[in-house]
Amino acid sequence: MTADIIDGKAFAARLRENITGQVAILKDKHNITPGLAVVIVGEDPASQIYVRNKNKSTLEAGMNSFEHVLPENTSEKDLLALVDKLNNDPAVNGILVQLPLPKHINESAVIDAISPAKDVDGFHVINSGLLATGGDAIVPCTPLGCLLMLQDRLGDMSGLDAVVVGRSNIVGKPMAQLLLNESCTVTIAHSRTKNLPEVVGRADIVVAAVGRPEIIKGDWIKPGATVIDVGINRVPKEDGKSRIVGDVEFAAAAERAGAITPVPGGVGPMTIACLLKNTVTAACRQAGIEEPEV
Ligand code: GUN
Repeated sequence: MTADIIDGKAFAARLRENITGQVAILKDKHNITPGLAVVIVGEDPASQIYVRNKNKSTLEAGMNSFEHVLPENTSEKDLLALVDKLNNDPAVNGILVQLPLPKHINESAVIDAISPAKDVDGFHVINSGLLATGGDAIVPCTPLGCLLMLQDRLGDMSGLDAVVVGRSNIVGKPMAQLLLNESCTVTIAHSRTKNLPEVVGRADIVVAAVGRPEIIKGDWIKPGATVIDVGINRVPKEDGKSRIVGDVEFAAAAERAGAITPVPGGVGPMTIACLLKNTVTAACRQAGIEEPEV
């Protein structure tokens, strides 16, 4: 069997087109221009690239983008003061503080300070609690992107065996909650899991989010399974350059899976699209209106 390749780039482009349409309706009918504030502290090069891409995508969708670039030595107090200002700014519907933060700043204190209604990352305990109890949460962007691709591919997932490999607050745990809400039988596997090949081998749905290059071997995959690879790992090549691989051994897994996301071009592009989606959702909820249908 050779798997269908799930084209995350094309899926994300369609989603962004839809969001652009929603934004146009919000402007025309409700006089609302959703606004996203992105805060970055310090000069981490990878974070700077993410923030630049977020800014560009936000503007392309017709939304307002407010970028706050703070120096590495910014105090926690000053960062919290900025978050407070953004919480109270009606033009700002979504707030994202780029992680990781410099070591002298307590990340949890900053995430806790963001208004849950504007927490478009979905990292606030109120949002994780709402997700866990089946409420109207803002869902973290990466797992939301994975869910949308799974729903598109599989439709009803009720009763399917789903294995999430990885237990981070950003991906693994919320992903497991989302799959549980879809009535899957969910297993969360991680670095201490005994007999990982057997656990993965039972799964109709595998979501790999461990951050270890090609740790999930192709011959573990159940024939016909749907495989979502969240990993983005840079590995050295023989010529001294590097290449990006996922957490799944792609070519071998594609021999057995029914469908699989590539790296790059799978989950990655969906994450920013879902950030824009969450910003529209947040703006509509704050205004007390339904999300426009495009
Ligand atoms: N750093 C890497 N990914 C993310 C993300 O999704 N949100 C935030 N806030 N920081 C990140």
